[in-house]
Amino acid sequence: MRFEDLLAGDGRVEPRDEMPDAYRRTLVRQIAQHAHSEIIGMQPEGNWISRAPSLRRKAILMAKVQDEAGHGLYLYAAAETLGVDRADLLDQLHTGRQKYSSIFNYPTLTWADVGAIGWLVDGAAIVNQVPLCRCSYGPYARAMVRVCKEESFHQRQGFEILHTLAHGSPAQHAMAQDAVDRYWWPALMMFGPPDDDSPNSAQSMAWGIKRFSNDELRQRFVDMTVPQAEALGLTLPDPDLRWNDERGHHDFGEIDFTELYEVVRGNGPCNADRIAHKVRAHEDGAWVREAAAAYAAKREAGAA
Ligand code: ACO
Repeated sequence: MRFEDLLAGDGRVEPRDEMPDAYRRTLVRQIAQHAHSEIIGMQPEGNWISRAPSLRRKAILMAKVQDEAGHGLYLYAAAETLGVDRADLLDQLHTGRQKYSSIFNYPTLTWADVGAIGWLVDGAAIVNQVPLCRCSYGPYARAMVRVCKEESFHQRQGFEILHTLAHGSPAQHAMAQDAVDRYWWPALMMFGPPDDDSPNSAQSMAWGIKRFSNDELRQRFVDMTVPQAEALGLTLPDPDLRWNDERGHHDFGEIDFTELYEVVRGNGPCNADRIAHKVRAHEDGAWVREAAAAYAAKREAGAA
């Protein structure tokens, strides 16, 4: 079926189908950025695996961080169906030519940050990614189904960490509040620039890659999160946050988008560390890739 007819009928575009070059390029850009985010996103939380406050917390956190690795691998596989090479995508990440989510350039200073990441960052990721399950590109949409199920578990575990801290000692409550204070605004920035400053949105929505605009999803996240903060007994650090009866949504304060642009440009608190760590891990893992390639070649020779 022709590309336009597929889109008009809300069908899925599959790797074998004809598609415009620009559609393919946009998908590679977004899926690669998404994959890189999952992989770099292992670092802030991985920082706490050895210091999780109990065996149970440690087991949960390890499972969660491994899930993120799995998501990254799924997404690289989805990108490869578009004819790109994973090694090349990694090279582009390592040399700063492809982006990853701004949120992973903030430090995890306390154990409560692991809770805030689960609750707010994975919560925002779910709001952004559930509509991607209906993305027009089949392999990306299908990958998102399982990713979203796992993200729901991640979000719940973050909420539960914060709930425990918020109902603990005054010092634990303060630690939880401090984490939320630091992560709230960066979590809102995850949805990207405002709609009138988002160069890719209109075309991506016309192609059915994005189903909702950055601002629509950001609003949905705020509306969803406010009652959860109340249930936690924590406050969101925005004096302008209040319900607007007329709009049927919460109003919220102005986001400092210059911070987002700076972080995306590489000037966030942890950008240099994150990439240096990733490059080091990649180099340390060279022997694994070589061994896997040698094994595959041997099996192929055996089969022949
Ligand atoms: N962090 C880093 N870069 C960003 C961010 C952000 N939070 N928001 C926007 N950008 C970049 C875009 O990638 C784009 O750059 P590019 O054109 O060089 O690729 C530029 O800023 C302008 O933004 P938009 O025109 O709004 O870009 P787009 O239409 O791609 O929307 C969005 C951005 C919403 C992030 C979209 O790409 C998306 O939904 N991606 C899939 C989800 C994802 O990547 N999540 C990662 C974090 S969640 C997690 O891993 C737990």
